Amino acid sequence: MAKRFGYLEIATPIIEQLELIQRVGEATDAVAKELYRLEKRGSQNLALRPEATAGVVRAYFEGGLNQGPQPSRLYLIGPMFRHDKPQKGRYRQFFQFNVEVIGGASPGFDAEVIELANGWLNEVGLRDLRLELNSIGDERCRPAYLERLRDYYRPLKSQLHYDSQLRLERNPLRLLDSKVEQDQPFKAKAPKITDHLCDECAAHWSAVRRLLDSAGLEYQLNPYLVRGLDYYTRTVFEFYPGGASGQQDALASGGRYDGLAEAEGWPPTPGVGFAGGIDRVVDLMAAGGEAVLAEPAADVVVLPDGELSVEAAEVARSCRAVRSVAVDYEPRSLRAKMKWANKLGAKWVVLLTSEDAKRQFAQLKNMESGEQVEVAWADLPSRLA
Ligand code: HAM
Repeated sequence: MAKRFGYLEIATPIIEQLELIQRVGEATDAVAKELYRLEKRGSQNLALRPEATAGVVRAYFEGGLNQGPQPSRLYLIGPMFRHDKPQKGRYRQFFQFNVEVIGGASPGFDAEVIELANGWLNEVGLRDLRLELNSIGDERCRPAYLERLRDYYRPLKSQLHYDSQLRLERNPLRLLDSKVEQDQPFKAKAPKITDHLCDECAAHWSAVRRLLDSAGLEYQLNPYLVRGLDYYTRTVFEFYPGGASGQQDALASGGRYDGLAEAEGWPPTPGVGFAGGIDRVVDLMAAGGEAVLAEPAADVVVLPDGELSVEAAEVARSCRAVRSVAVDYEPRSLRAKMKWANKLGAKWVVLLTSEDAKRQFAQLKNMESGEQVEVAWADLPSRLA
């Protein structure tokens, strides 16, 4: 799906400098509480990455992608690490599908990554989804809004949960996504950031919604959606399975991060992206009866008789120019070999008997039609192409 949208793959190290990760946000749970720090090596403090965006932005500058055509459209698939209580849908090592547009400020990119996320989830069979959307402003309008929010919550402080009391001065935005029962009654009257955006953020916000409308994407405006990481500006969004709520269930989430490059010490550079939780998506596919292994492991299987391993390997080697090929080297009955070929989902079977092998011929069987023909080894690749 990322390739269809013109994105190129990037791979960055699983280990990053602790300092880079901390710049993503020390008020963030994934950094403050859940980080796997490594024992110091020489002068470097290192950690296992809790998320990929900080590393992708670093690599964009260090690898010179900022000198290429802008913006850079990148995707990354790989493991992330967060130390939390493991439970279904929340793992200490989990896999993300990340999509990032770096060097693009237009609202078109916000809508594009949202459409890509939706397309990806649809493509794997997940149709019943809920998209939640919000804007959290930028460094121009957010400080004044945060003051309003503090002013609103200060008289209520003693009635808030202890954790929320701590957040009130340090990170008041997080009061809005508090999941604690005790905090809920106060949210409804809290000032909404989308009512206090500066002109530029307001224009961006309405352009993103207009683009999503024209793409036919349905979304719910959620003024309490603020996201767990500190680097977001303007657009933030999360995809949930229909019916579910609560951060634990988000299948994919992201937003714009126009201040992240600068926070890492690079020239100011806008960016927007998301990460999908592959483990959660696969869990849901399996629960919905989707065949998680939809692709055959090999298109062609070679089933040699007796001692024909050398010949089977040779035939497989030539066929690999056109198809994926697996060989059954196990000394088992033809019946057992055919069963194995069926389980792999192979489209063709190449049967090698010692009689045929002497003449360099094989039997080629089409598993769908059942049709079987004799083919010279040299002609197999062209027959399979
Ligand atoms: P995040 O919301 O922390 O954002 O994680 C993105 C997705 O990863 C979540 O929606 C969820 O599906 C999955 N996920 C997170 N933690 C776990 C876990 N412990 N076990 C299983 N799945 C999990 C980010 O990481 C941002 N870097 C996304 C982003 C990219 N924003 C802009 N660009």
